[in-house]
Amino acid sequence: MNAEQIFTNNRNWIAEKLKVDENYFKTLSIGQNPSFLYIGCSDSRVTAEELMGVGPGEVFVHRNIANMVPNADLSAMSVITYAVTHLEVEHIVVCGHYYCGGVKAAMQSSDLGILNPWLRNIRDVYRLHKAELDSITNEEEKYQRLVELNVQEQCINVIKTSDVQKASKERSISVHGWVFDDHSGKLIDLKIDFDKILHDIMEIYHII
Ligand code: CO
Repeated sequence: MNAEQIFTNNRNWIAEKLKVDENYFKTLSIGQNPSFLYIGCSDSRVTAEELMGVGPGEVFVHRNIANMVPNADLSAMSVITYAVTHLEVEHIVVCGHYYCGGVKAAMQSSDLGILNPWLRNIRDVYRLHKAELDSITNEEEKYQRLVELNVQEQCINVIKTSDVQKASKERSISVHGWVFDDHSGKLIDLKIDFDKILHDIMEIYHII
């Protein structure tokens, strides 16, 4: 694949869209009204729109290494504020994936430069759930479980924000933890029991 090919693809894509609806791009240019905010991994195999079967205008997307929501990350926090307060999305999804290189790197001891502080957030997830993870003897299963627990903790980070806490008092908004299984292509809902988790911790993280 070279850059020239991309532009050929783009011209073909425009032609295909216009064949179905000649006003397709005119409609898109009016504005966006997505009901989902998707926070996922930058991994090239985990395409947000394609795996969900949605098109342009339907999902507001934020991607970074290992689908993290660090509280001091200006980019992730701005995306959440914009999506919740201005676009008024009804659903916030944190989507991890099994075979995540970021999570795998955090399980190993190696100096990765600027990636160290980023991946440190995943090591913190491990520390929070050390008893459960240490009890898993199969390395592959432990890796998969850390992917799931990381999704859970990033969902909790979403709920810690004032924007989400404020919105949840005023309207319907929900947070979902999903995992994409690269091996089968399946999207899995982790069905995280947020009420149970939040019951214990909201006393600490309650802002609004
Ligand atoms: Co990944």
